Amino acid sequence: MTIPPSQGKVGVLIPGMGAVASTFIAGVYAVQKGLGQPIGSMTQMGTIRLGKRTENRVPLIKDFVPLADLENLEFMGWDINRETLYDICLRVGVLERSLVEELKTPLSQLEVLPAVFDPRFVRRLEGSWVKKGETKMDLAEQVMDDIRRFIEDRGTTANVMIWCGSTEIYLTEKAVHRSLETFETGLRNNDPDISPSMIYAYAALRLGIPFANGTPSLTTDIPALLELANSTGTPLAGKDFKTGQTLMKTILAPGIKARQLGINGWFSTNILGNRDGEVLDDPDAFKTKEVSKLGVLDYILQPDLYPELYRDFYHKVRINYYPPRGDNKEGWDNIDIFGWLGYPMQIKIDFLCRDSILAAPIVLDLVLFLDLAKRAGMKGIQEWLSFYFKSPMTLPELYPEHDLFVQLAKLKNTLRHLMGETLITHLGLDYYED
Ligand SMILES: NC(=O)c1ccc[n+]([C@@H]2O[C@H](COP(=O)([O-])OP(=O)(O)OC[C@H]3O[C@@H](n4cnc5c(N)ncnc54)[C@H](O)[C@@H]3O)[C@@H](O)[C@H]2O)c1
Repeated sequence: MTIPPSQGKVGVLIPGMGAVASTFIAGVYAVQKGLGQPIGSMTQMGTIRLGKRTENRVPLIKDFVPLADLENLEFMGWDINRETLYDICLRVGVLERSLVEELKTPLSQLEVLPAVFDPRFVRRLEGSWVKKGETKMDLAEQVMDDIRRFIEDRGTTANVMIWCGSTEIYLTEKAVHRSLETFETGLRNNDPDISPSMIYAYAALRLGIPFANGTPSLTTDIPALLELANSTGTPLAGKDFKTGQTLMKTILAPGIKARQLGINGWFSTNILGNRDGEVLDDPDAFKTKEVSKLGVLDYILQPDLYPELYRDFYHKVRINYYPPRGDNKEGWDNIDIFGWLGYPMQIKIDFLCRDSILAAPIVLDLVLFLDLAKRAGMKGIQEWLSFYFKSPMTLPELYPEHDLFVQLAKLKNTLRHLMGETLITHLGLDYYED
């Protein structure tokens, strides 16, 4: 298969222009101007080994697969307050003011569009910059009109939507979500179980625009939108960017398990003071996040296969809204482990991280890889992008792969597969023959 090259501009469409989105976009502008490096981005800095270890073929990923160039990205976004991206960058306070001032011209030109918003789904926020419509279908049509206008104005030839909006309250799949037909009827009848994030996703998928969900909200994890993605030949990925504490979990837990060490308990707590922290202070929004964060260890440790080691492990995750810290989250983990003959030990982690600094390169990679997937003719759930998510989307009959290193191998092998290169199994016996 030959993947057509990226030609022209790629539109990045973002519902939810908060800390993550603004840090991502300003960061791309900063890289374009040579004011910073895209650290944390595999598409920009990562390499990929091809062939045998003796061949010394290790190109940069961006030189190996035909990705869009950073220079060709164009941005648009929706939010609930009428602001420019410059205002948002100053308000969220992630990037230094001096950097924001240097980028003032492009940041001030990006004014957010009015949102599809319903405070029932995100209870801690209020905003007046919102769309009005008789039905949820009208709202979806308005989002599609916004996108068409953007494509025409900016002349983008490809587009990707990435949901960076607030985490919505905990929802489970209902009858209205079960098929595209019931979902579209629900949009026309204002079904209360259709959330704003689902409306944006529906609009994107209808237009054949790849969609990624950066939050744990249900959004596209429903049969109706999967059906739509498949019928319009559109790639889909989610859920919940894997950034701070959960990234650490999916690095450490596979190692502890690989050495057959036991775990009695894993207690994780966080303090966080940004708008995301405020939204997650609502127990119903936290529930959505909690489910996403808790699932990881169960799948990695497989207590059913290793009952002596993990049957009784206790896992607790807390997020505490603490305004003084802003976007600079502190996450503590206490891990009670046991070794030979059951002797107990402890591991403590104190991760002073910057949430949006960790999330921004993930947004960039997802945009570029989803655009690649679309050109490669891939559609539906892109499991090879699990690497970037806390709750990777999979087909219902599959369990998600959470181990970061398995996810990495899957991602790189998918790239090799797309480019017709031999997959790397790490067997390596052939080096020792003769
Ligand atoms: N930063 C991280 O490390 C990380 C990791 C995983 C997931 N997330 C998730 O990513 C999302 C963004 O994080 P953030 O730190 O930028 O949060 P944020 O609160 O700064 O930004 C979210 C924005 O979404 C807006 N919004 C809410 N509902 C909307 C709607 N219906 N339409 C348009 N805009 C809407 C809010 O007004 C806000 O500006 C959050 O849901 C967060 O839980 C972040």
